[in-house]
Amino acid sequence: MCSVVGYVGKNLSRSFVMEGLTRLEYRGYDSAGFACLHPQDHRVIYTKSQGGVSNLLKNFEKSPIDGFLGMGHTRWSTHGVISTENAHPQFDCKKMISIVHNGIIENHHELRLSLMQAGHIFQSQTDTETIAHLFESLLTTHKNIKDAVVGLVNRLEGAYAFAILMTPYPDMMLVVRKRSPLCIGSGDDEMFIASDMLAFAGKTNKMLFLPDESFAFIRKNSIELFDFKGTALQPHFQIVDIPWTSDMKQGYEHFMLKEICEQKRVIQDTVNKYRAQEHEVYQKMGLVAQQVKELQRITLVGCGTSWHAARVAQFFFETIARVRVDVGLASEMRYLPFFLEKNSIAIGISQSGETADTLEALRFLREQSVHTIALVNVPSSTMVRETRGALSVYAGPEVAVASTKAFAAQVTALYWLAHKIALEKGLINERALKTAENELLVAAEILESAMDQYKREIVQKLAPYYAQFKQALFLGRHISYPFAQEASLKLKEISYIFTDCYPAAELKHGPLALVDKEMPIFIFSILDPVIYQKLVSNAQEVKARSGHLIAFAFEGQKELIELADTAFVIPRVNPLLGPLAMTGLMQLFNYHIARVLNRPIDKPRNLAKSLTVE
Ligand code: F6R
Repeated sequence: MCSVVGYVGKNLSRSFVMEGLTRLEYRGYDSAGFACLHPQDHRVIYTKSQGGVSNLLKNFEKSPIDGFLGMGHTRWSTHGVISTENAHPQFDCKKMISIVHNGIIENHHELRLSLMQAGHIFQSQTDTETIAHLFESLLTTHKNIKDAVVGLVNRLEGAYAFAILMTPYPDMMLVVRKRSPLCIGSGDDEMFIASDMLAFAGKTNKMLFLPDESFAFIRKNSIELFDFKGTALQPHFQIVDIPWTSDMKQGYEHFMLKEICEQKRVIQDTVNKYRAQEHEVYQKMGLVAQQVKELQRITLVGCGTSWHAARVAQFFFETIARVRVDVGLASEMRYLPFFLEKNSIAIGISQSGETADTLEALRFLREQSVHTIALVNVPSSTMVRETRGALSVYAGPEVAVASTKAFAAQVTALYWLAHKIALEKGLINERALKTAENELLVAAEILESAMDQYKREIVQKLAPYYAQFKQALFLGRHISYPFAQEASLKLKEISYIFTDCYPAAELKHGPLALVDKEMPIFIFSILDPVIYQKLVSNAQEVKARSGHLIAFAFEGQKELIELADTAFVIPRVNPLLGPLAMTGLMQLFNYHIARVLNRPIDKPRNLAKSLTVE
């Protein structure tokens, strides 16, 4: 996604905007730009570059522009190629209006055509530029700027958050939000604007989350807020403390490695927090105990890694709490028929709490009268504000684009929740809940000790060897299948090695044709003895065709270990927690393969951390 950062205040804006952009670069890094109003003549002055914020910073060596009203942008391209022309800010014809934008204007094509017919000249391929020209035209036909903004938002379709600076308004920034995040931090004679409040963490904790479908005129010590009809709204500031240190990497080479290594603590924190809040958990979910007792169906929705966590958790809820679960891929489910059942809830699973596909799926479910709950890592996120209840996972800020510790925290929270629901339904007793908590803590220990055990071998021998392959296949069965999908996603996104994933028994129905020495096959074991034996047969099918096998196995699984060309062996855990115990090792191995290939691990090409467009 893109990030928008702005400043209006007593100080020059550039240093804040550039630091904010650096903090939010996880949202996009195709290109970056900065614009401000010239302190004397209020001209819009700007600079843009391809690539990340570090490239933009080099521009200031030649052109050290700055001003008291400034804004910046990092782009994750949607409309138009990655180029300086398509970088933000974008402008109207006279460069009196300058805009930075996150989101998509769905009707930009027809707007562009009519504006071009009216004589507007476009410089870029972006949908964003359409907003600037449309606003230019509306400012000539409306009596005042507020009416022009109402006219503008009435013409724009899609989801967007943007900031505008204008030469005729030298003390004010206009911000507009519909379905994309935007927040404002209030300081002492200064206002901070950003897509994510992380941009101004440490500068102020007084936050206004711009309401959906609203716009505001921001001056250094005032905010005028309106809804899309132009009716004045009262801004409601909240105090939100966000942890922030400037040395977030803490000596690790990459955020991803740091986040992989934090997972034992993350699981412990999540267990401890859930244990401490046991009696408030239904209230947080917006439910009462009776509703939990009667629960018959849970819909889990998410995207990417969060969807994989949901698929793993399906086994928890169905096995432990005996509740039927549907897992929806957020981007698909809202276009499918939905069959409402009584006594059902839906849980949206998301690290960021901002993913547009998941947000839209939750909105769709809410419209179907389903009780929606968010399970997120960012408690101040849109998903929390829009759902009937919310639970947090306690992973702490996750910066690397590839999600690691959030996955571990999601799986932990959902395992705990399945037991809590089972307890309410009278399927288990209090002691079993305590046992489950201890099982999670054991899995956390194993997650870390397994990494320690194999770290040296991975770095010195295994990662350099496996980094040579151009493709890999991932196999699992039962609960290890969604985990294999997560492993497959992790390797492809950070190493750019092509990967595919199948339930192991499906191999013989087609993919077996691909098996040769050139494609290592990752196989993830399972502790159920019957399914394990079937998995061994699938591994034998691979070896019989001279396939190369990398097995993630449990102690005592002699047949699988002996078949494997490379075997990682970890201690046994509760069978449902096998994936969690293997998580660190799987991620560490993939991380080091990508590192050997010298990939930009924390920011893989073409990706972004928070995907606020559908
Ligand atoms: C992969 C990854 C993505 C996210 C997905 C959903 O490593 O990070 O697949 O899991 O974009 O993001 P959230 O969890 O923020 O909704």
